Amino acid sequence: MLEACKIKKSYLTNEVLRGVDLKINEGERVAIMGPSGSGKSTLLNCMGGIDQPTDGSIYFEDVNLSKLSEEQLCELRRKKISTIFQFFHLLPTLTARENIEFPMLLESVNASDRKKRTNELLDAVKIDHRAEAFPDQLSGGERQRVAIARSLAMRPKLILADEPTGNLDSSNTESILDLIQHLSSAYDIAMVLVTHSKKVTEICDRTINISDGLVIENED
Ligand SMILES: Nc1ncnc2c1ncn2[C@@H]1O[C@H](COP(=O)(O)OP(=O)(O)O)[C@@H](O)[C@H]1O
Ligand SMILES: [Mg+2]
Repeated sequence: MLEACKIKKSYLTNEVLRGVDLKINEGERVAIMGPSGSGKSTLLNCMGGIDQPTDGSIYFEDVNLSKLSEEQLCELRRKKISTIFQFFHLLPTLTARENIEFPMLLESVNASDRKKRTNELLDAVKIDHRAEAFPDQLSGGERQRVAIARSLAMRPKLILADEPTGNLDSSNTESILDLIQHLSSAYDIAMVLVTHSKKVTEICDRTINISDGLVIENED
């Protein structure tokens, strides 16, 4: 579904990615591990079309991302590839419910479908009792549940998650991982999870290790 070929990325003279190859198949969960500063977030941002590699190509469903206009990339990110961040990135002036509904508003999903899907997602991430709360009234674990529900709203093919449990305590980490595992299987969504945590790799089909901007190990 997604293929990265010889990806390089430099910031001025700092060569962050030095020729990364990887493939993500439909419906699979892949962990990316590596030391701080090894280029994991940069790689993830390139895969999601948020950032552009300096060299090499990324294909999503056989389309070269570098051939897409900014508008086409935005559409891809709204419909097919969504992202979950370590610090949740919820919109502070919207309630949990409204945050989940927001991507569907942008895509003009009709009101009754929006409502139905939002309720289904609130239920799926077990946050329905907090639906009318604002992000600053929610705990870290609750915010991440809302962010996960929002990332699922447009039923993407791929979710990219940058340290999704990096800001959670161990009990919240476990329940978020259960949720990610369950929902990605139930909705048949591929996931790439950047992480430092062994627990995250346990819910993945394989782990890619990167160091100094190169894939050093690709284990099942
Ligand atoms: N926008 C940027 N401008 C300049 N340097 C950057 C930028 N983003 C990341 N870097 C540098 O790229 C390297 C890799 O960063 P990053 O991909 O965030 O690593 P990781 O996620 O593995 O910790 C670091 O040395 C970082 O300072
Ligand atoms: Mg990072």
